[in-house]
Amino acid sequence: MGHRKIEWALARMRVLSSLVSEMERERPLEGVAVGMSLHLEAKTAVLAMSLERLGARVSITSSNPLSTQDDVAAALSELVHRVYAWRGESEEEYEENHRRVLMDSPQILVDDGADLSVMAHSMGVADRIYGATEETTTGVMRFRAMEREGVLRFPVIAVNDARSKHLYDNRFGSGQSVVDGILRATNVQLGGKRAVVLGYGWVGKGVAERLRGMGARVIVVEVDPFKALEAYMDGYEVMGSMDAARVGDIFVTCTGNVNVLTERHFRVMKDGAILANAGHFDVEVDVRSLRAMATSEEEVRPNVRQFLMPDGRRLYLIGEGRLVNLVAADGHPIEVMDMSFATQLLAVLYLVRNRGKLERRVHLLPEELDEEVARRKLAVEGITIDSLTEEQRRYLESWR
Ligand code: NAI
Repeated sequence: MGHRKIEWALARMRVLSSLVSEMERERPLEGVAVGMSLHLEAKTAVLAMSLERLGARVSITSSNPLSTQDDVAAALSELVHRVYAWRGESEEEYEENHRRVLMDSPQILVDDGADLSVMAHSMGVADRIYGATEETTTGVMRFRAMEREGVLRFPVIAVNDARSKHLYDNRFGSGQSVVDGILRATNVQLGGKRAVVLGYGWVGKGVAERLRGMGARVIVVEVDPFKALEAYMDGYEVMGSMDAARVGDIFVTCTGNVNVLTERHFRVMKDGAILANAGHFDVEVDVRSLRAMATSEEEVRPNVRQFLMPDGRRLYLIGEGRLVNLVAADGHPIEVMDMSFATQLLAVLYLVRNRGKLERRVHLLPEELDEEVARRKLAVEGITIDSLTEEQRRYLESWR
């Protein structure tokens, strides 16, 4: 099935494919070793194959121990240099697989969450790397922290911060796929349920919008007053996490922060409450406390664990508190990842072309490359847009 899944994705990734077709003859990545750590499913397989079609030698692992689809990993191992990943890796195996990618001497890293790059630094191999691209908000934050502390050894392109990425991937991609993950795992009705979305950033906004679209009554929890007001004016109920904990039926953490739902919340939640996380790391729902509080726990459906509280209430955790859309579904829709991965490809090419010239810090993708992805996406969708007339351009640039 793995090959079929990859073909299905490939046929729908038209932005990425158009870039590859144009550059295939030139092979701009000839001889470049690329190490990748991304959720290993069909769309990622297409990105890895695209890099190889342009001449790269790709070694890949998964950026999450639970997000690998084994049939895709098996199929991909016949199509690229090396694949080191399987679903359900232990923490040690996860680290070992990242180490294996680095042992293949990559010159470019394509990272999702920054684990591969952080390991390259701790293994002392960072200096031979031209640069890295970073897929997600959490990874970009880690790289910025490394830059601030003066320890970053190579340039990083914050692919996440490109408009072609976060405006669509984080928002609409997560919106659809997080709901998809919750539904596949639980099979519950969303209409009429009180769904609590914690964090109203790009991901939270998309999740709240799609949950509402399915009929859920959405509550937003925030710490940023501007985001809280935005949610309020978007028509959601906004309240503190303790108040929300008492009334919610379904909870989705989307903050990129630690211990957002913890013991004090679990104490007051209703019987049957469902907990899911959409943030990058499995730190948003405090699973350790949940486990410590429970008198027993058991898997009641694939990807759903029941925690029995001493007072008889049952709380349900999806996918061990890891990214619900990747553990319990297929991740973002293909067409959305097409744009994100076209952006990744342009970022890799930019790093290779500017090898040795970029400062060791976090860079934005140049605006013209970002816009190139948006324009290509419009083109493959058959959408034409207006451009400014000369008169309009001059009007906008003048102050008189
Ligand atoms: P963002 O920075 O736009 O939004 C995060 C929001 O959470 C901010 O508004 C912040 O004020 C809020 N927040 C922080 N701590 C909070 C707390 N204790 N309680 C309530 N709100 C809190 O970030 P973005 O792009 O929305 O990403 C969020 C997380 O999702 C990151 O870990 C990112 O890496 C991950 N992500 C996951 C995806 C997926 O496929 N599931 C896709 C894209 C990003």
